Amino acid sequence: MFNTLKSQPVDKIMALMQMYREDAREGKIDLGVGVYKNALGVTPVMRAVKAAEKVLWDVEGTKSYTGLAGDPAFGKALSGLVLGDTVDADRLSMAAQPGGTGAIHQAVELIKMANPDATIWLSAPTWPNHPSIIKHLGMAMAEYRYFDNETRAVDFDGMMEDLKGVKAGDAVLLHGCCHNPTGANLNVEQWKEVATLIEAKGATPFIDIAYQGFGDGLEEDAAGVRLVAQMVPETMVAASCSKNFGIYRERTGLLFTVSNDAAQAKVTQQNLTHLNRQNFSFPPDHGARLVTMILEDDGLKADWMAELEEVRTGMLGLRTQLADALRERSGSDRFGFIADHRGMFSRLGASPEQVEKMRVDHGIYMVGDSRMNIAGLNEATIPVLADAIIAAGV
Ligand SMILES: Cc1ncc(COP(=O)(O)O)c(C=O)c1O
Repeated sequence: MFNTLKSQPVDKIMALMQMYREDAREGKIDLGVGVYKNALGVTPVMRAVKAAEKVLWDVEGTKSYTGLAGDPAFGKALSGLVLGDTVDADRLSMAAQPGGTGAIHQAVELIKMANPDATIWLSAPTWPNHPSIIKHLGMAMAEYRYFDNETRAVDFDGMMEDLKGVKAGDAVLLHGCCHNPTGANLNVEQWKEVATLIEAKGATPFIDIAYQGFGDGLEEDAAGVRLVAQMVPETMVAASCSKNFGIYRERTGLLFTVSNDAAQAKVTQQNLTHLNRQNFSFPPDHGARLVTMILEDDGLKADWMAELEEVRTGMLGLRTQLADALRERSGSDRFGFIADHRGMFSRLGASPEQVEKMRVDHGIYMVGDSRMNIAGLNEATIPVLADAIIAAGV
């Protein structure tokens, strides 16, 4: 049977990680994989997570199954973190998922169940796992312009022009904040225009929020999702706790939907629960339980927020330092966009040849489309990267 299987395309980021590991050079710099690292190059376990784990070790009396949609307290806590109090609870349906990826997969399955003829609209560019999951599930997709490679900002006119092609029953995938891979984000006015257009088209927004708290702040980063949830009758949100709680390997995420009314929300809930049952039955619980404990406890929550804020402002500091170093070296402001971008990534706008040159000549690893993980930098490596960018002729 297995001899009929075809080889699968190599995941470019995983291949880059492998190359980095095999590079024997001392001063190599990893700006590839999308994992937060502190100045020592470590992805730490957050203080509040450690504290919650200690308590959990003491109080957890069973490892029996949770509910099929996960612990309702987790859904309530995480959807609350994203939505605040913008939507009535009886319009929400939710199911815990193995990470944000699981939530995206399940969202596409839900779209497929609701409307197999839907087209799912993706930003160009987007996180490569979006098109790959959609393709895997056999759904149609289309792209809307998003990033202007000249200005390195959002091509908002192009985006709105392309979204005119959206049909009733389609879904439009938007990054809630901290766009991956570009770092260029919509402002509140633009979110309003997008929500108005989606509503007018009779389409459903599908928001992937994987970096809440990494951009402008926990509340600020959720402003777009909240606006959409208030302006459009139905919304789907795939939320990940991997980055903002630093619990990547615990696989913690949530798919939640806002339905038109409470009666519809009940039916949507049955479908979400059904999908979990078909795909993996009960979702992982450990990470979800830690997140719930943190969000429900004032002390733990305050400490988590403080540490997340250190992470966020640290990355902003690195952005400013890199933009300054490039201003000095280039004698121009053309790299100012690095300080304007938000989140863990910036798309530098370098050609694949320039990216390759930086890797070969300087041991600097970034994704081929010139996505840099800003958290891979520190004060010592910023001048090295700035020199390499100029030497590569970017
Ligand atoms: C845009 C985006 N969405 C979702 C995810 C999901 O992450 P995870 O499945 O690890 O929670 C990621 C992770 O890199 C991401 O960058």
